[in-house]
Amino acid sequence: MTTIEAKKGLQDLHTFGIDVEAKFYKAIHKVADLQNLLPLPTPHFILGGGSNLLFTKNFDGLIVHNQIKGIEVIEETDNEVLLQVGGGESWHGLVIYCLINGFGGIENLSLIPGTVGASPIQNIGAYGVELQDVFHSLEAINLATGKVEVFDKAACQFGYRNSIFKQSLKGQYFITQVTLKLTTHEHQLQTSYGAIEQQLEAAGQLPTIDSISQAVIAIRSSKLPDPNKIGNSGSFFKNPILPKATVNKLQEKYPNMPSYPAGEQHTKVPAGWLIDQAGWKGYRKGDAGVHKDQALVLVNHGSATGDQIWELAIAIQQDVLQKYSILIEPEVNVLG
Ligand code: EPU
Repeated sequence: MTTIEAKKGLQDLHTFGIDVEAKFYKAIHKVADLQNLLPLPTPHFILGGGSNLLFTKNFDGLIVHNQIKGIEVIEETDNEVLLQVGGGESWHGLVIYCLINGFGGIENLSLIPGTVGASPIQNIGAYGVELQDVFHSLEAINLATGKVEVFDKAACQFGYRNSIFKQSLKGQYFITQVTLKLTTHEHQLQTSYGAIEQQLEAAGQLPTIDSISQAVIAIRSSKLPDPNKIGNSGSFFKNPILPKATVNKLQEKYPNMPSYPAGEQHTKVPAGWLIDQAGWKGYRKGDAGVHKDQALVLVNHGSATGDQIWELAIAIQQDVLQKYSILIEPEVNVLG
């Protein structure tokens, strides 16, 4: 059994690259590693790839780091495969594994930072595909009982960047395995997202799982900062979902405001557009800033503190509220 480490530096363990430390830290490589730790002390935090996190100060508790590895085909039919993946595997590493093996379904989710175990918690999504589209089930340790429980798709209650693990079961489970249902032939490709079509056309490529992955990588790389080069947590805010009538009214005033349908009664408005129009794109104060190509992404130019990033986020939130009467809420987990 590996030991619990004290005063563990977290700068390299999360993508914002904030210089903070945890009082205690434990890497979890197998189910028993976690079961032996139960009950977890308060406070504690379950860490995956650290790609959706802002530490505003040192973490005064125990960090449990999911490092459960392994990718295994557990069932295969003529056209589909069930792939069981350890929660500590890198998400993009899994995408590459699927491309190499000809498994279709997650190519649109190429280059998303983070781990497989975190992917169902916020139902990761990009370019017309969400995790729930390929999700079969997951295994998770109930932190109160230490037992491994299985959740099927319905039990996860997926929504836009949302699941039961962000709602009523928040903080109560540690996800050990995720099983995806992927295609092996006759892939159902999702190319309807405008930027993908344009990218394929520009490259003169027909849609395949490989060409779509390449297109997504090209689009993401052109707009989103690489966390290995500049600290960030992807979209800092969620796109607000508003009643249709509210958006119609706003669009009378701002005819260029993009919007997307979100069910019968609601419309999704891109927070990136609101922040951009409010004049924040490329803004920088010290080392805390707003990315120059995508206003939804806050960045750490080097040695920003978590507090400085959070202060900037609040200033943006208040400005957007004042200008558009829309409350944009953080998508990242803010700790501290
Ligand atoms: N826009 C601007 N200015 C900006 C940013 C965006 O005007 O600075 C406009 C764009 O022109 C476009 C609209 O806003 O009309 C939407 O922008 P984009 O297509 O870049 O997508 P998004 O809504 O900003 C969402 C996800 C991203 C995901 C992309 C692509 C959320 C919170 N974010 O961003 O996810 O990659 O769609 O599918 O839903 C993440 O979660 O970390 C993430 C990067």
